[in-house]
Amino acid sequence: MLQNAARLVDLAPEVVSFRDAVLYGLARTPKSIPPMYFYDAKGSALFEAICRLPEYYPTRAETAILQRHASDIAGRIGPAAHLIEYGSGGLQKVRPLLVALEAPVAYAPVDISAEHLEAAAQRLATEYPALEVTAIVADYSRPFSVPTPQRPARTRAALFLGSTIGNFAPDEALSFLRQAARRLAGGGCLLLGADLRKDPARLHAAYNDAAGVTAEFNLNLLTRINRELGGSFDLAAFAHYAFYNPGLSRIEMHLISRRAQRVSVAGRSFCFSEGESLHTENSYKFTVEGMQDVARRAGFEPEDVWFDEERLFSLHLLRAA
Ligand code: AVJ
Repeated sequence: MLQNAARLVDLAPEVVSFRDAVLYGLARTPKSIPPMYFYDAKGSALFEAICRLPEYYPTRAETAILQRHASDIAGRIGPAAHLIEYGSGGLQKVRPLLVALEAPVAYAPVDISAEHLEAAAQRLATEYPALEVTAIVADYSRPFSVPTPQRPARTRAALFLGSTIGNFAPDEALSFLRQAARRLAGGGCLLLGADLRKDPARLHAAYNDAAGVTAEFNLNLLTRINRELGGSFDLAAFAHYAFYNPGLSRIEMHLISRRAQRVSVAGRSFCFSEGESLHTENSYKFTVEGMQDVARRAGFEPEDVWFDEERLFSLHLLRAA
């Protein structure tokens, strides 16, 4: 029997960009590394474990919204759609939508993590024989092209779920949304998940789980540097530190050097003083009005917004002009 096969388009010159990003980020003051580099195979698995933690509410809240409003969302998107998903991960978030959509033509998941994406895309293609699945390995914060499906689609829709938009600084979020609006121009829509501002204690707990999985996820970045870039990081000499910064409405994650130390990476040497931070992630938290305002400035018209019962999380349907 002939099975539906997923196509893979690999646009990521991964080793080079990881090396450059790490060497650049370690040489700066304060030291920082972009969060997209968390997601090697181990990091992706740890992130999936985070999504199942009792303290980490965003995934459960968003899934509940998607399941509850799948047919409304599918109606907004319309039949015979070409779907693009930024930061698709293990392809779990799209499932409730695929069930509800009328005859979707093609699905292009885009993610930085290759290992993960390829196998998941192949499974999905097997489950949906009529869906053209094209997995794209890319850093979607930069311009990239999505191949036109073989069968013509009636509309384009993009998904950016999980509040991954919160990893961008406000100006980066705006330019990301502008690019998406251009891709969807002429009536396409963007389904955007955005975590909401809330009790800081609740936020704090979500990034400081009792089982220590978030700490392991954060520290795994150093393991990855050691393995892929010949680094000499001693994991026991760094502490996971995550807190809510109310002035900037964001969770910040850092790795704090427990002592003065010297670390080498790719043949170069870097000094850490005692207590010095390596900043590894920002996760911005939004208000509904704030998110809609950025969307409008980027060229979208907000059409709908849905919430979970506790109003922890928001899911926006944005229409591109
Ligand atoms: C994937 C960026 C949405 O910010 O909550 C989870 C990543 N970091 N725990 C988030 C993350 C620590 C997550 N995003």
